[in-house]
Amino acid sequence: MNTSARLTAQGNPATHPELTPELIAQIERKAQDALDLLARISRDFAPATFANSLGAEDMVLTDLILRHRLPIEIFSLDTGRLPPETYDLLAAAEKHYGHRFSLYYPRHDEVEAYVRTHGINAFYESVELRKTCCHIRKVAPLQRALAGKKAWITGMRAQQSATRQALPRHSFDADNGLEKFNPLADWSEKEVWGYIRHHGVPYNALHDRFYPSIGCAPCTRAISLGEDIRAGRWWWEDPSSKECGLHVRRS
Ligand code: ADX
Ligand code: SF4
Repeated sequence: MNTSARLTAQGNPATHPELTPELIAQIERKAQDALDLLARISRDFAPATFANSLGAEDMVLTDLILRHRLPIEIFSLDTGRLPPETYDLLAAAEKHYGHRFSLYYPRHDEVEAYVRTHGINAFYESVELRKTCCHIRKVAPLQRALAGKKAWITGMRAQQSATRQALPRHSFDADNGLEKFNPLADWSEKEVWGYIRHHGVPYNALHDRFYPSIGCAPCTRAISLGEDIRAGRWWWEDPSSKECGLHVRRS
């Protein structure tokens, strides 16, 4: 059964309903919970690092970490194929928070060999070639970003997709050999956008153009009302294969 979330008018920030006192109270309760967890991670699992895709959820975590000056590194994986709007947000967020984010890049020799052998947009040709591209541009740089860390943090939510329904707040990531935390695991999309609006958090301009989930430019498209919120990611593939390898068991 697929109980993942679908795009409703509410999910589009441009048409999001007004913040009511009840919604604000609910958001602040959840934000305090997430903040307590982040503070505990920074204390008990140092050094900890946060993987920031610059999507809406990750901007909530960025805001919590930086406003409260928690000693948690924030890094992004620059695949080289991100949309211009994501780079614009990265620059705007650095200005907004007065903070320089760490960026990790794919190895140039691996990208060159892949493109030489398979072509510049080979990810459209097969799931295998798509996963190889994700491995070179995301998974291998992620492994470098996690090296030497005791914990990593993501902005994943259980309601995002069928593959994330049982998402725990805390688990041991055996593939990468460190603790993994998802502080927003039980947040709804409405709570994410409520937080962003209430706290004036910068966000990706593509979200206002019906891109609820944003990855690399050639692998992300806008979706229509009623579509699954991840329908625009690798839209030519079967929903069961739609993970890039950052969060799936490799063994
Ligand atoms: S993906 O696996 O389909 O790409 P999604 O875009 O939903 O993942 O993001 C889930 C989480 O993975 C994000 O909250 C973030 O922690 C991490 N993540 C995804 N892409 C990146 C990126 N480019 N840089 C850093 N972290 C990322
Ligand atoms: Fe390559 Fe697309 Fe994966 Fe980005 S999302 S790493 S372009 S296959």
